[in-house]
Amino acid sequence: MARASRGLGAALDRSQRLTSRGKRDSRTRSRLRETWTVCAGLFLLLAAPAAAQTSPSGGADDAVATPGVGQRVVLVTGSTSGLGRAVARALAERGDHLLIHGRSEERGRALVDEINAGSPGSARFYRADFASLDEVRVLAAAVLRDYDRLDVLVNNAGILPANDPVRRESRDGHELTFQVNYLAGYLLTDLLLPLLQASAPARIVNVASITSYPIDFDDVMLERGYRGMRAYGQSKLAQVMHAIDLAAATQGTGVTANAVHPASAMDTNMIEGAGLRPRSSVMEGRDNVLLLIESDDVGTGQFFVDGRPSRARYGQPYDAAARAALRRLSEELIRR
Ligand SMILES: NC(=O)c1ccc[n+]([C@@H]2O[C@H](COP(=O)([O-])OP(=O)(O)OC[C@H]3O[C@@H](n4cnc5c(N)ncnc54)[C@H](OP(=O)(O)O)[C@@H]3O)[C@@H](O)[C@H]2O)c1
Repeated sequence: MARASRGLGAALDRSQRLTSRGKRDSRTRSRLRETWTVCAGLFLLLAAPAAAQTSPSGGADDAVATPGVGQRVVLVTGSTSGLGRAVARALAERGDHLLIHGRSEERGRALVDEINAGSPGSARFYRADFASLDEVRVLAAAVLRDYDRLDVLVNNAGILPANDPVRRESRDGHELTFQVNYLAGYLLTDLLLPLLQASAPARIVNVASITSYPIDFDDVMLERGYRGMRAYGQSKLAQVMHAIDLAAATQGTGVTANAVHPASAMDTNMIEGAGLRPRSSVMEGRDNVLLLIESDDVGTGQFFVDGRPSRARYGQPYDAAARAALRRLSEELIRR
């Protein structure tokens, strides 16, 4: 299914176009970019190497579960373990159709089998490594091909390189944590936004954190003074900024966008891998994410902490110029 992308940059551009000059040029550029993005995704889907092609497409040998009439379709990125898996399990218990995503084929398929065998819901696995923007494009193209609706997108996949003193780069040459935690979700949301809007009411939930760090726009890729916690913190603040921008871009479309701090130091692989002592359970975090998916009272453009709208520790999410700078940078980075 080929839909033209009308993502965040384009949507905000569109609202600005109402009041700015050069309307026609901007629209033409936007349309060209939209068409190109979807064509590129579909091309990648067809032309990607065999491993990448079969995995995001669900695999030819799958007994593929498809959503029933009225069944909500929910994509949870990073749902092969930890918080994402707990959220996916809970939604499957409520009867939803889950798109399980991660890199681990083994854990992904185990969860799909578990959901399809033992819950009122259903599930299907999509593999994509967010260290590659091409794999994000392939994932988006596969979702657009396989589904004619998407009710909820949870941008949850993430890494915490707390103990890794080495600055690492994605396959696209960007600082790895910035890409996996933020930029990949930005691109995925951009590509899936038309489907979410066509499925409205729909929700986008960015799983961010109260652990945050202001973005230095002169060194976003942290080429100077890299620290793992700083990389993590700026990527999580970027997710909050993204949710606020998305809320503005989707106003009046029936799509809402919020960010959430699930809970602090949950008992997940991430915290164990960082050598930190768990201070909360993944069930606590799960319930805080579910609130944003289920509640009628969450509105849009908010950052939720402990189940309530809250303010991020740093001011950039509330600074329109900082959000515009991040948006411009993100649009440049996802353009090839
Ligand atoms: N744990 C906490 O206390 C805490 C607190 C605040 C916020 N959060 C946020 O909650 C989210 C989930 O964290 P968690 O604690 O549940 O961690 P986790 O158990 O380590 O789960 C991380 C998930 O992200 C996926 N992932 C990691 N790298 C990926 C990549 N390169 N490409 C695609 N998927 C990738 C993993 O899939 P594979 O293993 O299959 O690759 C896994 O499903 C993260 O965004 C995190 O920042 C966590």
